[in-house]
Amino acid sequence: MKTGKEYWDLHHKDTVELFKTRPDWMQNYDNDYPSAVLIRGLIEEYKPENILEIGTAAGWAAYYMLEEALKHNPYTKITSIDFGHHLYYSQEREIGAAFKEVSPNLYEKWQLKTGLMAVDFAANCKEKYDFVFIDANHIHPWATLDFIAILPLLKENAIVVFHDVYLNEICLGKKPANRHPDNLPIGQEMCKGPNVIYNIFKKEMVLSYDDIAPNCAAMIVKNKNEILQKLLFALNSPWENKYLNSNQIKDIIPKYFDFVNKNFEKKIAKNILNSIKTNNFKLELLNNIRNITKKFVQFNNDYKKSKELKHNIKNKKAVFWGASEYLKVLVKQYKIDNKEIIGIIDVNQSRQGEKIGRYEIFSPEKLKILKPNLIIPAAINHPQIIDFIEKELVNQNLSIEIDQTLMSK
Ligand SMILES: C[S@@+](CC[C@H](N)C(=O)[O-])C[C@H]1O[C@@H](n2cnc3c(N)ncnc32)[C@H](O)[C@@H]1O
Repeated sequence: MKTGKEYWDLHHKDTVELFKTRPDWMQNYDNDYPSAVLIRGLIEEYKPENILEIGTAAGWAAYYMLEEALKHNPYTKITSIDFGHHLYYSQEREIGAAFKEVSPNLYEKWQLKTGLMAVDFAANCKEKYDFVFIDANHIHPWATLDFIAILPLLKENAIVVFHDVYLNEICLGKKPANRHPDNLPIGQEMCKGPNVIYNIFKKEMVLSYDDIAPNCAAMIVKNKNEILQKLLFALNSPWENKYLNSNQIKDIIPKYFDFVNKNFEKKIAKNILNSIKTNNFKLELLNNIRNITKKFVQFNNDYKKSKELKHNIKNKKAVFWGASEYLKVLVKQYKIDNKEIIGIIDVNQSRQGEKIGRYEIFSPEKLKILKPNLIIPAAINHPQIIDFIEKELVNQNLSIEIDQTLMSK
């Protein structure tokens, strides 16, 4: 393999030209041309016969990979898979839309499979690949799980390329985000999956060259058992929260169990499965602790608010405004049963006449009859309610104090 700079010198000019043909609607998505320089250089050098891409989106990389490959090997085939059916940043467009638009002829030669994860594809795949581009979910451990899934499909000395190996540092704001969409959540520690892989395989990987922030790395897979040992290490690096929602986890973990048992030696399979089980369990535990802590903080906060409220309404005639679920819980849990509170105001006619605790729900027009001298807004998820109440008071020519205890954070 050459160095990143050598591939850069060979291919950056023509890659810049090629990138000018991208459809405008792709905006800045998948616009990382220095990564494409490395990929095109590798394809020129190794002339792969069978390419696999995990994570397709608009099909832009699939297009430039096939376009390059056919120059050097007229028999090259490419298969791309994607978990989705539509583009995540342009839901009205199908996966592969850019490929179809830019080159309808090449598009006919492309094998695109949507609605699949790497493990679904690998479990039923009879083919072997000599070039794989992994660019799907960047939340750790996905790049590692994708690598595990495609390992049995690799020919000897296959090239594996990972995109976004520094995305975590770009997200953290440590490296410039110029080649990424404007909506990247800068300032958050996330998307470290490809970086975990890069850190572990650094010595045997070639990093792309880029004058801004290199972000793509490639390696030759020689000894699958050695790779598996290192992947086990990657799998044990702490998993990122929200790596999948809980239904997806329930669905995907048994698939990995089945796949690993069928495709790897018993001892290795056992270690991988233990690692998946333990790390998933740790993450669930951490999430449970986070939820419990959140509930505890909420409980503490509500308790303080209920005490403050009881103090504020002393010697007043008060109404709540907003028959919210939150108010129901607050009244019940903190036993807010004060004679100073004479009812609840709510604009929703269907609620009027009902009760929360012993407080009846009235329409705003009843303010004139009830004559409260304190209003306590209780629609905590609708901060605009304060403005609404103020306008209603002006409309009714009333002057009543508003207590914002429940609305405060
Ligand atoms: C960064 S985009 C791929 C860009 C494409 N490789 C290119 O350079 O033109 C990532 C894609 O991976 C897909 N994806 C996310 N998680 C996946 C998973 N677990 N398996 C397969 N595809 C996934 C998303 O739907 C998204 O379209």
